[in-house]
Amino acid sequence: MEFPTFSVLPRHVAVIMDGNGRWAKKRGLPRTAGHIEGARTFRKIGEYAGDLGIRHITFYAFSTENWSRPENEVSAIMKLFGDYLEESRERLEESIQKGIRLRFLGDKSRIDPALTALMDFMEEATAGGKKIDLNIALNYGGQQEILQAVKSLARDAANGTIDPDAIDAGAFESRLYTAGQPPVDLMIRPSGEQRISNFLLWQSAYAEFWYSDVLWPDFTEEHFNEALRAYEKRNRRFGGV
Ligand code: IPE
Ligand code: IPE
Ligand code: MG
Repeated sequence: MEFPTFSVLPRHVAVIMDGNGRWAKKRGLPRTAGHIEGARTFRKIGEYAGDLGIRHITFYAFSTENWSRPENEVSAIMKLFGDYLEESRERLEESIQKGIRLRFLGDKSRIDPALTALMDFMEEATAGGKKIDLNIALNYGGQQEILQAVKSLARDAANGTIDPDAIDAGAFESRLYTAGQPPVDLMIRPSGEQRISNFLLWQSAYAEFWYSDVLWPDFTEEHFNEALRAYEKRNRRFGGV
């Protein structure tokens, strides 16, 4: 594959990694087999985005609603996530060299403490990364994120550390999991679904959307290029003319 160049790159790409279950079903395999393959795709596309020079990328790995799935599926996903964390720790030096800053978006309180310990370790160990912000949304819900931001502002207003009238978009954003990162420019959703599924609701206010019928385990660098090509041609107006 030729290494492509783009006239304009999105600063922040968000990816809804969807279609693992259907990928497995098509092959007569258990849904968990789809998650295993999907986790491989995540590594591949994450690396590729970094090679292309995407500055911020956020992958949706597990939503606040995904707990409603069968217990064995939830634990299989958490196990794969744990494997990824272990591998990331082993490859820490490489990440640091590449300037990768790893962050986890979501409510950590419901995640296994053995995992959150590793998550915290990786976030701290890569905090100096300045080339690419690699965000993984786990137990993430856009509504939950907004609510926790509201509660944190309300607490500060109640104890007098902030003036309610001084709460602006910047103050609000500083309480989101994405604090300090730019809004989403391009939202990618494979698997044929055309919905946001509670992902980055505030941050995608003016995002461009790209959909495809490809199932996430089949998603390749070429699909990513296709999404970036589509983005190049979009005329973003932000409410202007
Ligand atoms: C996305 O694939 C992975 C997670 C939501 C964790 P799905 O498991 O939703 O796959 P489909 O949508 O059932 O095909
Ligand atoms: C969104 O996919 C969540 C993740 C990819 C982690 P879902 O499969 O959970 O979304 P719905 O249920 O089709 O909206
Ligand atoms: Mg799905």
